[in-house]
Amino acid sequence: MRIDIITVLPEILEGPFSHSIIKRAQKKGLAEIFIHNLRDYSDNKHRKVDDYSFSKGAGMVMAIQPIEKAIESLKNERNYDEIVFTTPDGIQFNQHEANQLSLKQNIIILCGHYKGVDQRVRDHFITREISIGDYVLTGGELAAAVITDSVVRLIPGVLSDETSALLDSFQDNLLSPPVYTRPAEYKGMKVPDILLSGNDKLIDEWKHQQALERTKNLRPDLYKKYMGEAD
Ligand code: 6GU
Repeated sequence: MRIDIITVLPEILEGPFSHSIIKRAQKKGLAEIFIHNLRDYSDNKHRKVDDYSFSKGAGMVMAIQPIEKAIESLKNERNYDEIVFTTPDGIQFNQHEANQLSLKQNIIILCGHYKGVDQRVRDHFITREISIGDYVLTGGELAAAVITDSVVRLIPGVLSDETSALLDSFQDNLLSPPVYTRPAEYKGMKVPDILLSGNDKLIDEWKHQQALERTKNLRPDLYKKYMGEAD
């Protein structure tokens, strides 16, 4: 899978993909992530990428010219399955969306900024508008990092069997059960006896029960969904 991210702040995106699992995925050739500076595509001598809004008082708007040039230059090299725009007024991202995107070959993510982007970009180039939640960030870069991380870890071979994505919270609409490691007792705080019992069947039942309870208490919306699907 190849992900091309177009941004006015490439520095923000250097860190998130240079460590641990996402770094290894790239080393293994399972994912390619390229960061493009939108200013490199500006025809303006000052590398300007925004301009005043035609509607008064709306703040600066990302202009169509550099974005069109960046997207077209990428499209000239290969076909893209999706061109994503990160924006707080997009569809809310979730595990289902991550699963869908992880099946694609090539995607572009355009990071939103300022007061938005010229609507013609959204109308003519963007295939998916994504928000990562109901709060406002200063820009779409952190959202692009969140989306990329959640998608890349789903690519077959990126995670080991032990950390398999199949066991994730949300993959089956249930939150994960609690986990413990040694020591079995720390300053009087004990690990539940059942986990020390060695009885795999009982432990699996306990884990499922804990997952149900946690979900019911913390995410009644997910619990309802889960019970609906289990019916
Ligand atoms: Cl994708 N962008 C911005 N600026 N804020 C957000 C967001 C995106 N998702 C949630 N808040």
